[in-house]
Amino acid sequence: MNSLVEKLKNTRDLSDIELKTLIESDEYDEELRQAADAVRRERYGDAVFLRGLIEISSYCKNNCLYCGLRAGNLHAERYRLSREEILSCCEEGYALGYRTFVLQGGEDPYFTDERICEIVAEIRMRYPDCAITLSLGEKSRESYERYYKAGANRYLLRHETADPAHYARLHPENMSCENRKRCLYDLKEIGYQVGSGFMVGSPYQTTENLIADLRFLQELQPDMIGIGPYITQKDTPFCDMKSGTAELTLRMLSILRLMFPYALLPSTTALGTIHPMGREMGLRAGGNVVMPNLSPVSVRKKYAIYDDKICTGEESAQCRGCLERRIESAGYRAVTDRGDVRRVRK
Ligand code: 5AD
Ligand code: SF4
Ligand code: FES
Repeated sequence: MNSLVEKLKNTRDLSDIELKTLIESDEYDEELRQAADAVRRERYGDAVFLRGLIEISSYCKNNCLYCGLRAGNLHAERYRLSREEILSCCEEGYALGYRTFVLQGGEDPYFTDERICEIVAEIRMRYPDCAITLSLGEKSRESYERYYKAGANRYLLRHETADPAHYARLHPENMSCENRKRCLYDLKEIGYQVGSGFMVGSPYQTTENLIADLRFLQELQPDMIGIGPYITQKDTPFCDMKSGTAELTLRMLSILRLMFPYALLPSTTALGTIHPMGREMGLRAGGNVVMPNLSPVSVRKKYAIYDDKICTGEESAQCRGCLERRIESAGYRAVTDRGDVRRVRK
């Protein structure tokens, strides 16, 4: 075979024009999916890594135009977990077998570096065998260094869009694409395993923007790449903008798997939200990570980044079992170990 997909699989790269053809057409989808699945199985087998996600605060000082947690959203319900609540989520997660905890939250000034470091150090001491992942937004290099010294190993910060003009349409003036990228390079230099990523189908996004995202990722070479569809949130300035599609998200996931065979690629909650089988399809398209929510059920609905988020009701106490069945039904195996990146083939 001499197709674009075959070329992407073999060379891990394509020209901009070739990428545009792949991104804009649905005719390669099945071939892309199969190639992506073959590459993921070669590198990671049928393993799907589980990460225990703890949403520590729904307060945020930022005003990203797409996000329900934006400071300007006066309808948002706010909460923050106490140190004790966070530690008991970890305890529960550890008992369930999780060996990675992800502490995610809005940019909440209450969580000073001191408080973050104290919590990280405590988790590090109690669970020396676990990876600690932070996802707490843009900070100074010094702050990132302090968290790292306290025991954090990984950091997730999506670049959102690599194109400065597009970035400016999605964010208020006090945020910049440049600072975002600076954060990611700082994190990498400090020694974190770094996750970046972007939304698919975000307002005003063009194919060229998506290609720029892939080019930026080629430069950054992150360990993890998180993508999910943009989903409308009713209390934001983008309330009338259309959500992204599962179809394009899956296509981008497969392209990412072929360009970055080593990468940890989550099949996201957002993908599960826009399609009932979204997460299963995401795994089949090349994803190899899922992040079940460990936050207390009582706060889950308040972490309303976008509308109709799944796993926020009563059923969510059972996410673990539910997800494991979903992983198996998609043809894979749930793994709870640290699941470090495999840059080199085993
Ligand atoms: N739809 C989908 N994803 C969103 N995010 C923020 N708002 C939305 C939305 N409306 C994503 C961003 C952010 C992550 C925490 O959630 O990419 O990095
Ligand atoms: Fe805050 Fe993150 Fe939402 Fe932006 S995307 S408003 S930084 S929680
Ligand atoms: Fe959360 Fe199914 S994974 S309820």
